[in-house]
Amino acid sequence: MTVPSDARSEEKAPAVRLPRPEISATSHVLLDEALLAASPLAEAKRISLAVDVIDLPRLEADPERIFRVLSNLLGNAVKFTPEGGTITLRAASLGDELTITVIDTGPGIAADHLPHVFERYWQARPASQAGAGLGLYIARGIVEAHGGRIWAESSAGGARLIFTLPLTRPAASDSSPSSGGRSEVVERRQTAA
Ligand SMILES: Nc1ncnc2c1ncn2[C@@H]1O[C@H](COP(=O)(O)OP(=O)(O)OP(=O)(O)O)[C@@H](O)[C@H]1O
Ligand SMILES: [Mg+2]
Repeated sequence: MTVPSDARSEEKAPAVRLPRPEISATSHVLLDEALLAASPLAEAKRISLAVDVIDLPRLEADPERIFRVLSNLLGNAVKFTPEGGTITLRAASLGDELTITVIDTGPGIAADHLPHVFERYWQARPASQAGAGLGLYIARGIVEAHGGRIWAESSAGGARLIFTLPLTRPAASDSSPSSGGRSEVVERRQTAA
């Protein structure tokens, strides 16, 4: 039996539309994957990656897109933090949302730059750093499409990029207060030989 030519040509193109990605994911899987991806770059700069996770709820999120957000934020932190610095990835749920924070010990973001960092193509130093100024613009689009918020803070100690995502509420919700709940702190130290 011969294969119809139109079927052969479809081998090169996607044969079927992929189903909509699973939109529920556990936050620890998302965080772990993003950390794993950022580890080699951090290691190359002898930057410590610390993880501070308080509870690990399920959330309504497209894992691939949230991975992209986390990769952007961790990538920026690695890019702008000098050798020997520390990046902390923090996740904690409060009320109906999960708050994820990427904290670095780099130079921070000047106060007059803070309102611009999510703009398309915006960079504090366009010529001196690799990149296109698109990461945070894309991250904002993804986070807002999920019904969350994203913003930047900065201090003398470094930059802090924060975003929220709505949580998936279980049908029979646990009425116990989340504050003081299960706390898991994992720390990964990486030093180049
Ligand atoms: N952690 C950070 N510390 C200091 N400055 C930052 C940090 N994150 C972002 N910025 C500033 O915001 C700008 C925009 O960031 P964004 O991620 O959108 O672009 P980029 O990293 O320069 O390029 P791309 O993400 O497209 O590779 C950066 O160029 C930098 O000036
Ligand atoms: Mg970037």
